Amino acid sequence: MHDTLLLFGATGDLAQRYLFPSLLRLLGDGLLAEDFRIRALALSAHDTESFAEVLRPRLQQAHPLASADDIASLLRRIDYRSVDLRDPASVAAAVSDLVDRRCVSYLAIPPGLYISTCEGLAQGGALAAPHRLMLEKPIGSDSDSAGKILGSVAQWIDEDRVFRLDHYLGKAAVQNLLALRFGNTLLEAVWNRTYIESVHILVSESEGVDGRDAYYARSGALRDMVQSHILQLLCLVAMEPPASLEADRIRDEKVKVLRALRPLDAQNVARDSIRGRYTAGTINGQPAQAYQPPEGSEVETFAGVTAHIDNWRWSGVPFHLVTGKRLPERTTRVVVTLKPVTHWLFERPARGQATPNRLVFKLQPEENIELGLMSSLAGPEWGALELHPLELELSVPTGLHRRIAYERLFLDAFNGNHALFVRDDEVRAAWHWIDSVADAWKAADLPLQPYPAGEWGPAAAAGFLPDDVGVDTPEVQS
Ligand code: BG6
Repeated sequence: MHDTLLLFGATGDLAQRYLFPSLLRLLGDGLLAEDFRIRALALSAHDTESFAEVLRPRLQQAHPLASADDIASLLRRIDYRSVDLRDPASVAAAVSDLVDRRCVSYLAIPPGLYISTCEGLAQGGALAAPHRLMLEKPIGSDSDSAGKILGSVAQWIDEDRVFRLDHYLGKAAVQNLLALRFGNTLLEAVWNRTYIESVHILVSESEGVDGRDAYYARSGALRDMVQSHILQLLCLVAMEPPASLEADRIRDEKVKVLRALRPLDAQNVARDSIRGRYTAGTINGQPAQAYQPPEGSEVETFAGVTAHIDNWRWSGVPFHLVTGKRLPERTTRVVVTLKPVTHWLFERPARGQATPNRLVFKLQPEENIELGLMSSLAGPEWGALELHPLELELSVPTGLHRRIAYERLFLDAFNGNHALFVRDDEVRAAWHWIDSVADAWKAADLPLQPYPAGEWGPAAAAGFLPDDVGVDTPEVQS
């Protein structure tokens, strides 16, 4: 097991809110190497003591049940170095004393700094075998910039020691999609164009851009969420069964899905996509401010795109991919709508009026599965000729303790398991499709539609949303 973490971006929001608290939990559960240590690196002029004073309250806040001993033990393992990531020599000097250990460098920094930081790590000896590298999303902001980062990093470190994160893959509920699909005959029997009418993948957040303005103003919902989390969910829903659970067998199948995505065509852009930005509104009874990006930024906080996978299994099945900030609730769900019954026998509802069978995988905040069937409850009120929708709800037992995504991903990287990390060709294929969407938006000058915070996106978003989120969904064109 690798025993030394070089954590770049140590004063940033991600590190303070999620990464250090995850390490604290792993340490408390005895899952880190005995002599595990962390070098925290960032630009701020802290020393180890002043950094510990900043981190301590954040740890207490993120993990209120942690014992004082565990917190003290984590802090004892951390030392801090101030570093200028634009200067490879500064990076090399900040890490070279640790390279006789087994290091994992974690870059929780803007992707514009990846190349200079990796160059410094290479100079300092921290990318030679057996050292490893963990890279946060996003890798670049389009195919060109991603290609430059991937190409540069590949000069200094082999692919089998690079771990690219998409924290959705670390979520137990997301991994369960694979288990449900490939551990059951039932789903595979209907999992194709013959039985499935459409698929919706929705990641909605009630939170706003809050505090991440500089990053978000360059990114927007398409690059921030669709390029990574939503396309990863799409891969898990649409991939062919892998031959084994070996990391590369899973990733081979995922990349095939990404490569089969039909580029968005500028001619159909207004039919197949929508972009919006929230204005002032109300969420849970609280006023919420409009998102006001800096002058010159035209980013969206809501994106809907209907994707088509041009392969044998999915030909003709629309995948509606939707995400937005400041929507009424936080929910991540995959809604699979089945085709209507081919020969309808019943009086009521009339042919064509029956609610289609639907499978809903709710991934967060709670994890459960809903199955919508039509059924006749024989009783005085209705006869067997009249059917009514029946919703079956199966809550997924989550056991005593499910690890949060970053805990799982740290452990896998320290132990060298790649299955939950994104391979370089996946990154390239995902950007290739995202470029087609961004280019089509630009070519068609697709307007940014306003929506009040607390609404399900712009009015025209209804056609992209699953109908179980409280919107009447008009017939979707495909
Ligand atoms: C991050 C995005 O990757 O995922 C954020 O950059 C987003 O904009 C977050 O809020 C959502 O993650 P989760 O785990 O809260 O669903």
